[in-house]
Amino acid sequence: MEIESASAVIGPRASRPPAGQRPAVQGRAPLAVYIHWPFCRSKCPYCDFNSHVRDSIDEARWTRALLADLDRQAELAPEREVVSIFFGGGTPSLMPPATVAALIERVQAHWPTTPSLEITLEANPNSAEAERFAKFAAAGVNRLSLGIQALDLAALRFLGRRHDRGEALAAIALARASFPRYSFDLIYARPDQGAAAWQAELDEALSLAGDHLSLYQLTIEPGTAFDNRAARGERLTPDEETAAALFEITQQRLAEAGLPAYEISNHARPSAECRHNLAYWRYEDYLGIGPGAHGRVTRGGSKIATQQTRAPEAWLAALDRDGSAMEEMAPIGRDTAVEEMVMMGLRLVEGIPRARLQELAQRNVETLFGAALLRLVEADFLSLDDQRLAATAAGRQRLNAVLAALLA
Ligand SMILES: C[S@@+](CC[C@H](N)C(=O)[O-])C[C@H]1O[C@@H](n2cnc3c(N)ncnc32)[C@H](O)[C@@H]1O
Ligand code: SF4
Repeated sequence: MEIESASAVIGPRASRPPAGQRPAVQGRAPLAVYIHWPFCRSKCPYCDFNSHVRDSIDEARWTRALLADLDRQAELAPEREVVSIFFGGGTPSLMPPATVAALIERVQAHWPTTPSLEITLEANPNSAEAERFAKFAAAGVNRLSLGIQALDLAALRFLGRRHDRGEALAAIALARASFPRYSFDLIYARPDQGAAAWQAELDEALSLAGDHLSLYQLTIEPGTAFDNRAARGERLTPDEETAAALFEITQQRLAEAGLPAYEISNHARPSAECRHNLAYWRYEDYLGIGPGAHGRVTRGGSKIATQQTRAPEAWLAALDRDGSAMEEMAPIGRDTAVEEMVMMGLRLVEGIPRARLQELAQRNVETLFGAALLRLVEADFLSLDDQRLAATAAGRQRLNAVLAALLA
């Protein structure tokens, strides 16, 4: 299958600005906009995202509230150029397409957008949702991120998914036909999944892939149904050695296939990286719209952290009552900002530009981290030169431990 590069696949909305869209302006700092839809048809047993099951949703009220939140938060970040809009969840493929269209138009009314504006929507592969793909594309979505999770029925049932293998394959085919770019997620390191089985699943995934794949190791998150089962003694993840071997296979196979890792769990053809997630990992500015969403915005030379009320009904009530559900808006001190830049940037294969880190820290990288840095470089978990500080593949595999040692 021929795969277009990201730069060649600008969606219809991005290449033909609608009436009222503000033209691109040189020299503005980039801004990414995240919009959270907190509802799902059912709760998956591994998931600790801010996602909830409700019998009915007042869609008109939710649309008004999300637009109001966007209008209010736009005041925090004027004079920017929007590079990405990301509808995440929850299950944003349950959103009314007209709501998605209205939010995209409102973003374009507030800011100029880059010619390569990326508009991603997360979708579940159930057939009912797939029926809406054409409407999302017509609304301006130019990248679909599908939660496939596994390609065989037993694994899908284990993961508590509502779709089967046939729906997964049909949704991928429809995504390919409906959007210039698409990606899908798989969860590996499932119980009893050996190297041979994962290799075979990866090969099939590669035969179905577009320009991007997200491959996550199953993690047991506190408070989830899997966490309760693990606490009762059920073994839900493989031993460390097997997990490490599966990670290695993933890195190697994807690199051979032309989609090398650019982040711990994310793989893309060159220049097809998810622009939105790069904004987080490069510690650029982003707004978080919707329940539980958080943002980082530079104002007066330093970053502000924003956090919205998490519970959907409380968020909605606050929007109706006060026009805002901002729970927290606080300046981030220099030490915390350095920590955040390091925690995000070391996830990326490209690492962190030394000059940017030193400018933020107002110190040399060697002085900043002292002997811990030297030890981690000697152990081949980090690499440092005059351009960048980066984690090696071994370092990315155990990033929590590396960060704990570096930031201690
Ligand atoms: C917000 S969720 C996806 C949205 C969409 N509702 C779906 O389920 O397809 C983002 C992705 O995170 C991954 N994920 C969530 N919880 C995980 C866990 N505990 N372990 C590994 N991957 C996880 C899944 O691959 C999921 O598709
Ligand atoms: S994995 Fe997706 S569908 Fe499942 S509960 Fe989480 S957000 Fe909802």
